[in-house]
Amino acid sequence: MTGGTVAPQRWPVLGPADLEAVSRVLGRGVLSGAGAPEVRGLEAEVAALLGARFCLATNSGTAALHVALAAAGVGPGDEVIVPALSFIATAQAVLHQGGQPVFADVDPRTYTLDVRDAARRVTPRTRAIVPVHLHGLPADMDAVQLLAQSAGLTVVEDAAQAHGATYRGRPAGTLGAMAAFSLNSTKNLAAGEGGLFVTDAEELYARAARVRFDGLEPAAKWDPTHPLDDEAAALATVRGFMYLPGELTCAVARAQLARLAETTARAQRNAGRLSARLGALPGIEPPAVPHDRTHVFHKYRVRLVPERAGLEVPAARLRDRLLEALRAEGVEAVLWQTVPLPAHPLFASRARYPNAEAALESTLCVGSQTYPLFAQPLDVVDAWADGFERAWRALRRGGGR
Ligand SMILES: Cc1ncc(COP(=O)(O)O)c(C=O)c1O
Repeated sequence: MTGGTVAPQRWPVLGPADLEAVSRVLGRGVLSGAGAPEVRGLEAEVAALLGARFCLATNSGTAALHVALAAAGVGPGDEVIVPALSFIATAQAVLHQGGQPVFADVDPRTYTLDVRDAARRVTPRTRAIVPVHLHGLPADMDAVQLLAQSAGLTVVEDAAQAHGATYRGRPAGTLGAMAAFSLNSTKNLAAGEGGLFVTDAEELYARAARVRFDGLEPAAKWDPTHPLDDEAAALATVRGFMYLPGELTCAVARAQLARLAETTARAQRNAGRLSARLGALPGIEPPAVPHDRTHVFHKYRVRLVPERAGLEVPAARLRDRLLEALRAEGVEAVLWQTVPLPAHPLFASRARYPNAEAALESTLCVGSQTYPLFAQPLDVVDAWADGFERAWRALRRGGGR
């Protein structure tokens, strides 16, 4: 619902620079290729921005995660620790390598991996760990690294939601052996469908590059006079997939990348403004941001604590009532994920993940996939804050019902 007096801004915001990027590709007439100019340009620009040695563009964030796990040598029987709260792709990428995702609970405050719970789940078969920088907040990477070093695990960051975030001054995407970003339309760096694989290690890069390209040895150079010929004589050395992105996607991603700092600044400004308002309401907890990291608020998740609002209703019921009330006030609000990953029918696990379950029951996200908080001008943020206050006041007056 998008009512109210101020029209919210839809995401992605596309303008003349994106149009110019698309027409540049169409004018050139080259739509794809591992060595094609937009693919290579995007890879070079992302690597430079992050201060990483290597980047590979892919056709999805899931593909970027998958090539990372393949490069890590994950295979049948290997276990990979992933958080119980994420998008399903984090676990699917493990299955694609024949590995077994082992779910660990999340921290109740940050919603990122609870590293102590992860440590309890390490076995002799554990090969890798995938901390997810959920909603744009980096996971507790020092603790992840300590665990990984002591147990001999490869760290693959799932940075799908965290473009522009930092941990102790270092960019998300450079905090593990490898990282994966998503370029899906909802993301802070949006280009339709696409992904980015990042690493500093030449060997991992070389392996990932083959896995991305049907196992073929990438061509040493690209010939603009014969743009489709760079794979004609290549030979396969490993099992791989066709995960190359198209030139149109990469060109749009480059145009969006040039505006990423602006997107990040707007996300942080909006979240700061909304948190100042919502944090003053009894029983509402805005997203936590530990002092050693920055959050890019890809999603803005608030927690409801009924007892602190003087309410005696189950958190999930209160959440549902608030969701309805917010929408009636013209405030964009959604649930993002309704069950922990292990409870998806794919896994049908009955194991309990108390923090992930509590997080899902007692929180909602302000902003939606189409109208995220990070895209909004300040007057929309203020209108949403006003609507939230009215909805919360009315709910409290009515005893949460
Ligand atoms: C946390 C997380 N991991 C992985 C992915 C997968 O990215 P994609 O949808 O680009 O495959 C996404 C995004 O959808 C995500 O949010």
